Amino acid sequence: MKIRIENPNNSKKKTAMLCGFVLEDSDKVLGLENIDFKIIPSIKQSINDIGGVFGKILVIPTTDRTASQRILLAGLGKKENFTNDTIRFVSGKIAQKARELKLKEFSIIVPPSSLIEPISSVSQIVEGCKMSLYKFEKYKSKKENNIPDLTILVSKSEKISKAIKIAEIVSDGAIYTKSIANLPPNECIPATLANFARIISKKNNMKCNIISKNELKKKGFGGITAVGQGSKNEPKLIILEYNHGSRNEKPIVLVGKAVTFDTGGISLKPGEKMDEMKFDKCGGCTVIGIMKAVSELKLPINVVGIIPSVENMPGGESYRPGDIIKLYSGKTAEIQNTDAEGRIILADALSYGEKHYSPKAIIDFATLTGACIIALGTNIAGIVSNNDKLTQKIMESSKRTTEEIWELPLNGDYMDMVKSDVADMKNVGIGRAAGTITAAAFLRNAIENTPWIHIDIAGVAWTQVATKEKPYNPKGATGFGVRLILDYLQNI
Ligand code: BES
Ligand code: MN
Ligand code: ZN
Repeated sequence: MKIRIENPNNSKKKTAMLCGFVLEDSDKVLGLENIDFKIIPSIKQSINDIGGVFGKILVIPTTDRTASQRILLAGLGKKENFTNDTIRFVSGKIAQKARELKLKEFSIIVPPSSLIEPISSVSQIVEGCKMSLYKFEKYKSKKENNIPDLTILVSKSEKISKAIKIAEIVSDGAIYTKSIANLPPNECIPATLANFARIISKKNNMKCNIISKNELKKKGFGGITAVGQGSKNEPKLIILEYNHGSRNEKPIVLVGKAVTFDTGGISLKPGEKMDEMKFDKCGGCTVIGIMKAVSELKLPINVVGIIPSVENMPGGESYRPGDIIKLYSGKTAEIQNTDAEGRIILADALSYGEKHYSPKAIIDFATLTGACIIALGTNIAGIVSNNDKLTQKIMESSKRTTEEIWELPLNGDYMDMVKSDVADMKNVGIGRAAGTITAAAFLRNAIENTPWIHIDIAGVAWTQVATKEKPYNPKGATGFGVRLILDYLQNI
């Protein structure tokens, strides 16, 4: 999608569809206040008809006397309900309408600064349009996604152009994450993800290190080794380094769970919806998408992405319930359920990240627990942290990006719930109680004192039955976390 900007007063602007926003109970099209109603007499009636209802869209054909072939009115809802997501959401609807009409291009008029800063307007318009037009059709014989170009009508300035450029990179990061997360498990194994990481590292000047099966075992990654040993698709630890900060500045470490398929292993999952466990790699895909965008944005910081990737399969060589393994930290873990595999591979990756990089902060993403869906549903991710300052920062990014999160507690009582009779810890808590927190407690044991935040994306990483429909989250992987963390990294 090509994106251009043009000054809004250029009324002779030729376009297939001129799109403007309308607030509820208003008789004006924002940014089009001076429109000559004599030219398009029906527009007054149309404004009335949509009533500015949130997400509602109306396309009006125009006469030959106007430069635009159509006018699209898009309802924003009530002014008092306006959020950081309104323009993104409604722009997505507009873009999908333009696609439906098979247009080659369309134009959106930025609303006045009294409603929203043009800088955030244009960012949201770009994100909304780009992400809403993504479609996973790699395996369709007939590809039908036509993506129209976009002109944003806004007063030109350096700042606006920069905001658009940033929003394009951020959206492309999220789209990249979606596109690899959507891949089927027969076509995306740990080695495939490692290849993707290698490709983006070459394109964007990052260091990429892949640690393979034998080396993992030799170096003491007992967790990744154990979970990975049941599959003929060998485990990989993928490490991407982006160094654009000063040499002695400590990096931010991002860790993402990438189980390319989670059958549960010997503790086999029931068949229902097991196909969705191809999305158990979403945490890792999020980290890869973030690293891609960070390097394209050329942020003046140091960031490391660490992605432990395995396939969790049952078989003659699988790890078993009852096994006791030694993690990278040196601590031992009793396996009580081979389906609680994410925390095991993450523990190795977290310890490695802390030991090798002495990071400023560690952020991990994982489709870790079904319990998180029970607790928070499918629109809000769960977070658990050992550091209030870091949590506060991530919360602020969450407010700005509308990638929603909710904090769960972690104190000593929860830590006690993962203590084992026969090893330092066990990989499940007590029954189903506080399943998301006991998983986090296991992770907490992998790091010493580095500020850390764990983001459980089990409910939000892909669209599920209870997921709220959003145009920019079409069916499949959502890329949750990419926009959130890129906002955080840009505001350090
Ligand atoms: N990948 C799953 C968690 C999951 C399940 C995410 C469904 C999204 C939808 C994870 O590996 C897992 O199986 N967790 C178990 C842990 C349990 C055995 C302690 C779970 O949540 O049931
Ligand atoms: Mn599992
Ligand atoms: Zn899993």
